[in-house]
Amino acid sequence: SWTMKGFIDEAVETIRRQVGEEGRVICGLSGGVDSSVAALLLHRAIGPRLQCIFVDNGVLRQGERAQVEALFVDRFHVPLKTVDARERFLSKLAGVTDPEQKRKIIGREFIAVFEEASRDVQDAGFLAQGTLYPDVIESVSWKGPSVTIKSHHNVGGLPETMKLKLVEPLRELFKDEVRVLGRELGLPPEMVGRQPFPGPGLAIRVLGEVNEKRLDLVRRADAIVQEEIHKAGLYGEVWQAFAVLLPVQSVGVMGDERTYESTCVLRAVTSVDGMTADWARIPFPILEKISSRITNEVRGINRVVYDISSKPPATIEWE
Ligand code: XMP
Repeated sequence: SWTMKGFIDEAVETIRRQVGEEGRVICGLSGGVDSSVAALLLHRAIGPRLQCIFVDNGVLRQGERAQVEALFVDRFHVPLKTVDARERFLSKLAGVTDPEQKRKIIGREFIAVFEEASRDVQDAGFLAQGTLYPDVIESVSWKGPSVTIKSHHNVGGLPETMKLKLVEPLRELFKDEVRVLGRELGLPPEMVGRQPFPGPGLAIRVLGEVNEKRLDLVRRADAIVQEEIHKAGLYGEVWQAFAVLLPVQSVGVMGDERTYESTCVLRAVTSVDGMTADWARIPFPILEKISSRITNEVRGINRVVYDISSKPPATIEWE
């Protein structure tokens, strides 16, 4: 009968057979469940012959890079190279407001940065990806180009000259199985149960122009959302909960001063697969807490609105 332990043994065998005694594998870590589980599985199979790469693209959430480093380096001792590409991404994004354009830029830069970083890995012959079964049978359609390298059945996007062979140890699994596998491999619950986060990151949650200042606002507002949703025990109940910064300013009052500052959207949805979604009925006291914390703690945001649209006709993200 099929067991997760049996799956792990078999997957480890398969990886070793494919990669050989000496082959080295590169794996891009995104901070999400799939790439994390793929990396741990590979690490179990080939140990230090795995080289993970994490690209800090400047549009990550608060503490994300530190979390990835703490988990993989400190806890699992997985070889990890973090590439600080913040400036590079942000300078390319400067002045860009079109969502599709933002995705294109981030996708293109990611591939360029990843390729450069991979070149430094001696003798790498393989590229590991956390492709799941649903990715294999059907590509989820984003609103434009995504930043994942995966293009089905080949390493589309990466230059031909890299000649890396694909290793996809999760390609027969569904998401819930990946979570079970992750738990079995020792991935902590907060990582196993992680809500999805889009590749283009906060760039598509800052509507309008993406710059350090506006990223800082959405990042701090979002950190409050994450914290309060966790505290309320709702993190596992909702598919995604996050903050979006609008390119809208409105009048407010602080003390006896008039303010004219940004508006932040709180978005929380329930969903089974992200294809359709319903706005989450977050209890009023939680909404109140999030709203008052954001307006009190994040100077530059004086108004919080709650998105009560479902998908369709709206989408989960605002861009
Ligand atoms: P939408 O907004 O289309 O989102 O309802 C559905 C799911 O997909 C995620 N999403 C993305 N993920 N690259 C990604 O990797 C993208 O460009 C992208 N756009 C949306 C979104 O967070 C939700 O889970």
